Amino acid sequence: MINIDIVTLFPEIFDQFFISSPLKKTFDQGSIEVTIHQLRDFTKDKHNKVDDKQYGGDPGMVLMAQPLIDCVEYIEKIRNSEVFTVLLSPQGERINHGIIQKISLSKNVILVCGRYEGVDERFIEEKVDCELSIGDFILSGGELPALIVLEAMLRLIPGVVGDHKSTLNDSFGVNFSNKLKGPVYTRPKEVRNKKVPDVLLSGDHKEINKWRNNISSYRTKIRRKDL
Ligand SMILES: C[S@@+](CC[C@H](N)C(=O)[O-])C[C@H]1O[C@@H](n2cnc3c(N)ncnc32)[C@H](O)[C@@H]1O
Repeated sequence: MINIDIVTLFPEIFDQFFISSPLKKTFDQGSIEVTIHQLRDFTKDKHNKVDDKQYGGDPGMVLMAQPLIDCVEYIEKIRNSEVFTVLLSPQGERINHGIIQKISLSKNVILVCGRYEGVDERFIEEKVDCELSIGDFILSGGELPALIVLEAMLRLIPGVVGDHKSTLNDSFGVNFSNKLKGPVYTRPKEVRNKKVPDVLLSGDHKEINKWRNNISSYRTKIRRKDL
C-alpha cells in the first residue's frame, strides 16, 4: 500500500481530480491511498489563523511553522513508518522524470502546498526532505504543482496505468532514457496530403525500432539541448 498525504488550505481543489481522473480505478482498488489534510485543522490559534505577517516589513502573509509541523507530525504518526516530505516551492529543485522516479519509490509521501508569501523557513528546516518546483514562474499556491507531482508519480507505479509497458515507451521512460519519444500517428493514413511514414506501415519491427530511435535522437537534439 502506498500512502500519499497532501497538506493544503484548499482541499476542494483536489476533488475533481479524484472524481474524473483516469487513475481513479487505482484509488478504488485500494493499492494507493491519497489523503487530503486541511492545514487549518492543526492550528492552535483561537481564530483558526494559519498565517501571519512576515518579519522584516515586506507585505504579504507567511504560513506559520506550528500548524505545518503539527500536521506533518500527525501524518508521520499515523503512517508509523518512514515518510518522505516534499514542499512544493518555486525555490525548489526543478522536477523531472528522474526526481519523480526516486520519489515514487517511497511508500509514504507527503506533499505540502504553500500559499501567500510561502512557508516559515523553520518548518522547512524541521520537516522537509526536498523542495520541488514545477518551473521558473509563480503560482498562487502549491495545489496545482502537487497534482502534477501526484499524477506523474502515480503513472510510474506498476498497475496504475492499464498497460504499464506504455509508460516505458513514453518520453524519458526506460526505453527512451532521457530522450523525447518522437512523433506518433493514427488512422487515417493520409491527412491533408500528409502521409504516415511508410516504415510504420511496413510491419518490419526491426526497421520501425530503428526509425523510432533515430527520430527520437534527432528530435531531442533539436528541441532539448539541455538533455
Ligand atoms: C505565491 S507563491 C510564493 C512565492 C514566494 N514568495 C517566492 O518568491 O518564492 C505561494 C506558493 O505557491 C506554490 N508555488 C508557486 N509557484 C510554484 C512553482 N513554480 N513550483 C512549485 N510551487 C509553486 C508554493 O507552494 C508557494 O509557497
